[in-house]
Amino acid sequence: MSFVKGLSCRECGNIYPKAPVHVCEYCFGPLEITYDYDAVGKILSKSVIASRAPSMWRYAELLPLDNPPSVGLQTGMTPLVRADRLARRLGVRELWVKNDSVSHPTLSFKDRVVSVAISKAREFGIPIVACASTGNLANATAAQAASVGMTAVILIPHDLEPAKVMATSVYGAHVVGVKGTYDDVNRLCSEIAGKYGWGFVNVNLRPFYAEGSKSYGYEIAEQLGWKLPAHVITPMAGGSLITKIGKAFSELTKLGLCSAAKTKIHGAQAEGCAPIASMVIEGRDAMKPVKQPQTIAKSLAIGNPADAFYARQTMLGSGGFAAAPTDPEIIDGMRMLAETEGIFTETAGGVTMGATRRLIEQGHIGKDDGPVVICITGQGLKTQDPLVEVLPRPDLIGPRLADFDGLLGGPLRGLV
Ligand SMILES: Cc1ncc(COP(=O)(O)O)c(C=O)c1O
Ligand SMILES: [Zn+2]
Repeated sequence: MSFVKGLSCRECGNIYPKAPVHVCEYCFGPLEITYDYDAVGKILSKSVIASRAPSMWRYAELLPLDNPPSVGLQTGMTPLVRADRLARRLGVRELWVKNDSVSHPTLSFKDRVVSVAISKAREFGIPIVACASTGNLANATAAQAASVGMTAVILIPHDLEPAKVMATSVYGAHVVGVKGTYDDVNRLCSEIAGKYGWGFVNVNLRPFYAEGSKSYGYEIAEQLGWKLPAHVITPMAGGSLITKIGKAFSELTKLGLCSAAKTKIHGAQAEGCAPIASMVIEGRDAMKPVKQPQTIAKSLAIGNPADAFYARQTMLGSGGFAAAPTDPEIIDGMRMLAETEGIFTETAGGVTMGATRRLIEQGHIGKDDGPVVICITGQGLKTQDPLVEVLPRPDLIGPRLADFDGLLGGPLRGLV
């Protein structure tokens, strides 16, 4: 049973029936899924949710499928980790890390959006799925397609991290490297989707796909004991995740599952590609696309983000702000999270960490404010290169106790 009323244009409000469409025919505005919240409210209570399996599908009435999901059944319900050591380092009272670096099955929050998109593609009877990706979406689409024997065609910029390319090809997907930026890849994918009608998870299936990100927000609230945090800090690429976390929190309030505490939603991008963050920081309402992104945070390197305008609205409308750390700050952020909490995140997580640090220093996040949640959305093992250059190498010794004892006068001094 579905609670979806249809799709509505975010700009002019025109209504469309459920179909693989993403742009309004009248004004070219993006389409958004709308729900019958009265009907959802009659079914979805805290106890009903608590009685269900620990996956993103415990909120199924708020996701846009007509039938039970057919891929990604175990995706979601990643840990929300109380991060006291990191809190002390950053100088805040109550800090949590929502840790999608351990998401099933491909170690990023993109597992959530793809679970919805491919389940929906199958409901529409679409036989081939595809995507334009900065890496994590490629991994998730290839894996979830393989899990149900579907053909996947994945288009990526040619210069992605080797681990992300390998962790796409391994699933047997057709991987196409495009000589150009992500924005070139995305433009090409719109043309391919128009010509061949394949299910591009983030193009013609985008309204359905994007709804999957709401589950990240629902889980934060449920794991905090049905309380909305005072702050969340969210990485941004296309700007969809941050917008959907905002939508998730307002839906929970509308349904009476959370009281209307006002969460400040902050956005993080790398300095070398910050088209959305810079709108907020510089007080502009027009987005200046970044033609040649220059950052180690390749997963966030989208120069012309589809949801820039709505992401800006989410930040400013909630009283949040934005920050855009440099590459060295991104590396420091990755190391700080690993050293204080034992969580290894990819460069995108380093961006979120660097942004959090700046937002605290600038006073946008108060030291005594209620729960602060850092959104860690991807896994460090996928982006090792920038760290390999800066981390100390292992001490090298022969296999004798005397060799080891030699270290006690040097690197291990003071341990015994
Ligand atoms: C690890 C990671 N975090 C965050 C994002 C940002 O997502 P969005 O495009 O919804 O803003 C991405 C996008 O690729 C990502 O790979
Ligand atoms: Zn419209």
